[in-house]
Formats: sequence, C-alpha cells, structure tokens
Amino acid sequence: MADHRDLIERARDVTENAYVPYSEYRVGAALETADGSVYLGCNIENANYSNSLHAEEVAVAEAVKNGHRDFERIAVSSGARDGVTPCGMCRQTLAEFADEDLPIVCDEGGEETTVYALGDLLPDTITLETLSAAEAERSDNGE
Ligand code: THU
Ligand code: ZN
Repeated sequence: MADHRDLIERARDVTENAYVPYSEYRVGAALETADGSVYLGCNIENANYSNSLHAEEVAVAEAVKNGHRDFERIAVSSGARDGVTPCGMCRQTLAEFADEDLPIVCDEGGEETTVYALGDLLPDTITLETLSAAEAERSDNGE
C-alpha cells in the first residue's frame, strides 16, 4: 500500500489507449477498489471538445458499472509524466464515492510520485448529504 508503483504502472500503461487527436495529452487513471481490484480509464476526446471524457471519470464509470462504490486509491499519469492531478470535475466525481482521505497518487516520472488527499484538492464538496439537508429544510418550512 505504501508503495504506489504498482498502481502508477497500471495508470502509465493505459495512457497508451488514450484517444487524444486534439490535445495530444494522454492521461491514464488506475482506480483501486476496496476488494483490491483495479479499474482503468484513459481520456477519450471528441471533435466537439466538450464531449471529451477524462481518464478518471472513465475509471470511475468502469468501477461503478462493475458494482464497486468503495475506493481505496487512485493513480493518475500523463504521457508527459508531469504530476498531473485530476481536474475540478474529476475531483467532484471521485468525491461522490470516496472519503476526503482518498489518496490520489500523481506520477512525477521515474519513481517519483506526489500523493494528495482528495479533501485537500477539493474541500467542502457538494454531496448527497448536502441535498438531503436542503430537502429536510424545505419540508420543515412546509414547502
Ligand atoms: N484530462 C483528463 O483526462 N483528466 C483530467 O482530470 C485532466 C484533463 C484530459 C482531458 C483532455 O483530453 C486532456 O487531458 C487535456 O485537457
Ligand atoms: Zn478531469
């Protein structure tokens, strides 16, 4: 667990499958679930740009569609090995399923990684609880 090289290697490998004719910036994500299985994602771009899928969201979709909603770790790598971190949208997508202590392992190249906690990258996230509390307040007000 302390050694993240295994998961980084999986994230590196899947950057090979990235479909990036527009940005030419490959991203790979390897998401480890509570039972130790690993789901992979790469970015998949689109000619209308805004339809492009991010590596992390593809990995989350793979895990969730296979019945996994408990996440242990995620590793993210880019072709540039530049320590890329999940964008704001992907942080929110992870926060739907993971606690704020989810380790996000970012590939700095070679053996170097930087590990962030999800809650440090995205504090005060909106959650299911946020919406339930708002709903409870509306019914208290007779709405
Ligand atoms: N990208 C990801 O796959 N994940 C992120 O969270 C950061 C950005 C992709 C989207 C686009 O295909 C390329 O990187 C350049 O932004
Ligand atoms: Zn993203």
